[in-house]
Amino acid sequence: MPLETDILIIGCGISGAAAAYRLATNTSREVTIITRHQEPEESNTRYAQGGIVTLGEGDSEEALIKDIRTAGAGLGLPEAASILAKDGPRLVKHILVKTLEIPFDCNHEGKFLYTREGGHTLPRILHVGDTTGKAIEQALISKLRKLPNVRFLTGYTAVDLITSPHHIRNPLAVYQPISCHGAYVLERKSGNISRFFGKATILATGGLGRIYSHTTNPEGARGDGLAMAYRAGARVVNTEYIQFHPTTLAVPGAENFLISEAVRGEGAKLLSPDGRHFMEEVAPKWGDLAPRDVVARAIHHEMLTHGYPYVLLDLSGIMLPEHIQSRFPAIYTRCLELGIDIAREPIPVVPAAHYLCGGILVDEFGRSSINGLYAVGEVSCTGLHGANRLASTSLLEGLVWGYRAGEDISRRNDLKILKPSMVPPWEAAEAPFPDPVLVYQDRQAIQNLMWLYVGLSRNQERLSRALRDLNHLWETIEEFYRTTALNDDLIGLRNMAQAAWIVTLSAWHNKQSRGTHFREDATLQENPSAWNQGGIMGNWPPFREQS
Ligand code: SIN
Repeated sequence: MPLETDILIIGCGISGAAAAYRLATNTSREVTIITRHQEPEESNTRYAQGGIVTLGEGDSEEALIKDIRTAGAGLGLPEAASILAKDGPRLVKHILVKTLEIPFDCNHEGKFLYTREGGHTLPRILHVGDTTGKAIEQALISKLRKLPNVRFLTGYTAVDLITSPHHIRNPLAVYQPISCHGAYVLERKSGNISRFFGKATILATGGLGRIYSHTTNPEGARGDGLAMAYRAGARVVNTEYIQFHPTTLAVPGAENFLISEAVRGEGAKLLSPDGRHFMEEVAPKWGDLAPRDVVARAIHHEMLTHGYPYVLLDLSGIMLPEHIQSRFPAIYTRCLELGIDIAREPIPVVPAAHYLCGGILVDEFGRSSINGLYAVGEVSCTGLHGANRLASTSLLEGLVWGYRAGEDISRRNDLKILKPSMVPPWEAAEAPFPDPVLVYQDRQAIQNLMWLYVGLSRNQERLSRALRDLNHLWETIEEFYRTTALNDDLIGLRNMAQAAWIVTLSAWHNKQSRGTHFREDATLQENPSAWNQGGIMGNWPPFREQS
């Protein structure tokens, strides 16, 4: 049976939830949220440790905009930074502090404690220990659960967007602009695929860190939304700009676990295994709190040059052991589980894929180039991050653009629901599900090649090889997809292959190093005027000193 709703939201991190909140509290529209996981709280947001940016003591919108644009290496859109700096602090106050009563850390006088992270000129990040995203996500979902016009459907995976003209029975639709009317959706338990129709569809599916073998992202970050929008013909931009987080826990056999930049914000230092404070040499002005691309490449450089398997993050002397435990409870506990007492010994760390700075191009209200399709959060590209994201801006971007998308949809009367008879039901293939071993192996192949060829340091030869390998994998995966019954794993694998290809192709085209996209073979040499804007890099060494 087809499902009809006013607004279909796919994914429910902070951006999808903020859109739902705006729509469901100020209008009577019916909002349907689908999530792959059984728990709607499971999202990238849940794992955000550092915090959420606002304006700190002695801060200003102008100072925040400047820091965002400096980190973005001259590619950030000024209008987007200005929207964030103006709307963000207001929404933090009204939604997070007043309505949801998020227990941000305060001092004994009840005043907010702000922390600092890489690229920020002053402390302005609100936090709940090191589980800020979890605190926000839980509060948002529990608020949404109480609203009568919000329906959660959990355990559902979107397969493809329903777009005109692609899925429409009217052949003359080909002369109209592309528009979105919902999605084909798999119910994971039954394996049935149905048509879900909405007047507007919001993609809030998060990022794609899982296309890499080392990532801070949870299992669902496989580029689903990006790949679906790309197939539908949406404009996708800046996808070569993948941010690598400098510090994730490096313990053999254990998954990468984020070690928040806030740890360095509180004074921890990066040291080579032989005790050198290498960030002092690389970026004397910023030291350990240089923008992430600079720190991540410096670590990578240390590891490559000296053959180190990791570098060390040393917290000794920054605070009392009991304070470390209360300020960073999740990091403390996870490290201890793996035999590292961070109050007494340094943490072995390596960089890992963390955040997609580009994505589906959207405007100031989250509108994509496809009519009726919105994208918010990491899957979108508002232009805010340019070539590199300033730490802890993503939760705020999700809150601001989610809210603005909800506001925009609530004002629109032009969006209509499509008659189900206009769109054919899904044609399911007869063959049984694909062999999980084959799916596993293809996933590993994508992750390994992305890490080695399209990682922190890129060149033409590696990127060309990656494109060849991905094209070959794509053929095999498409064959599965066309001929076997679909399950969540196969849908994810296909999206991963497509997302990996999108990232690689844009990295291959862009021969200029900038921000997170570092080309060892950059054809554009150092350009002084660009350096003044934030920096276009030349060749080795791969560091960008801030002016
Ligand atoms: C961190 O805590 O270091 C991650 C925060 C972010 O990516 O903005």
